[in-house]
Amino acid sequence: MPNDSQYVEILQSKAITEIQSCSNLKDLEELSHRYIGKKGELTLLLRSLGTLDEKERKKIGQKANKAREMFEREFAKKKQHLIMHEFESGEQDEWIDITAPGAKLPKGHLHPLTQIQREAKEIFQSMGFALADGPEIESEWYNFDALNIPASHPARDMWDTFWLKEPENSKQNLLSGTAILKEKPQKFLLRTHTSPVQIRYMEKIKPPLRVIAPGRIFRYEATDARHEINFYQLEGLMIGKDVSAAHFKGIIQEFFKRFFEKETVVRLRPSYFPFVEPGFEVDMRCVFCAGKGFSINKEGQKKDCSSCGHGGWIEIMGAGMVHPNVLKAVKCDPKEWQGFAFGIGLDRLAMMKYKINDIRLLYSGDMRFLEQF
Ligand code: PHE
Repeated sequence: MPNDSQYVEILQSKAITEIQSCSNLKDLEELSHRYIGKKGELTLLLRSLGTLDEKERKKIGQKANKAREMFEREFAKKKQHLIMHEFESGEQDEWIDITAPGAKLPKGHLHPLTQIQREAKEIFQSMGFALADGPEIESEWYNFDALNIPASHPARDMWDTFWLKEPENSKQNLLSGTAILKEKPQKFLLRTHTSPVQIRYMEKIKPPLRVIAPGRIFRYEATDARHEINFYQLEGLMIGKDVSAAHFKGIIQEFFKRFFEKETVVRLRPSYFPFVEPGFEVDMRCVFCAGKGFSINKEGQKKDCSSCGHGGWIEIMGAGMVHPNVLKAVKCDPKEWQGFAFGIGLDRLAMMKYKINDIRLLYSGDMRFLEQF
């Protein structure tokens, strides 16, 4: 009954109650549509006033206009309130506690082999050794011939070699900038040891000299707990007028003492390498079984030590007095100069220092292993 002033009052209080109990902006907009939209209840009421007589129209008209004004006021108030509320609750979600300790970013570190290499380098450098480097792709000349291992020599079998296919007319490219092209055509390979750096260094630097050359080397052989197809060596060379094997022993014992930070038992064993005479193998007492060759398990049973191959010693380097033919290959007079050379297996050093029982772990990229260093 639009002409009933009571109806206006009821409509007004219904609309205001609804506005007040409204809890979100979407519902509020919907309310506005329902009351003051094109076909809203208040709109229709105001439109129907024309049908009333003058007295009624004035009375109800005033009430209806007031109701609309009130609706609009309440609507605006509520809208403001809801906007503020939504903003504040959004802020809650985004609130940043500037006093909270920062989340730690994962930080990498050097690979254990890099750490070992750096430690070894530092010790030798403190003893006056210079640092040299050579290519991983090497020529037959530097890897073998110049080291007194001619092509026909059975000693070449000591190093299982990855020979490289000869690229079309690009022999110089492989090792451009180096004096590799000797009289005969060269074959190329992945260096089987760091000893070719001895030759490269002596071609440039005249004795007396002391130098080390750490680097990666490659062997074409089956892998097991003690062998990998690529590993690291540190070559050492000292040449002077009266450098002897006694100097080598002193230097290497001092190196081990500093590297392992304790007295370490090493032994020299006669051995053969074509580029030294005499040659020796240097072994270290196995840290896994303390040189016993076996360990006792929980059940009290004897178990062979797999790290040292049950012998109690681990072969850690080859060494010897530089062969006169090697000195001749770099135009150095063996009657005037002499010295020693050695090649330490850096992986074996790492394994001894950190008690790693399988060399393959070092190349596995397994984070559970690497994160321990
Ligand atoms: N180059 C030898 C090897 O890889 C090690 C060695 C170096 C031996 C220097 C003697 C002198 O087995």
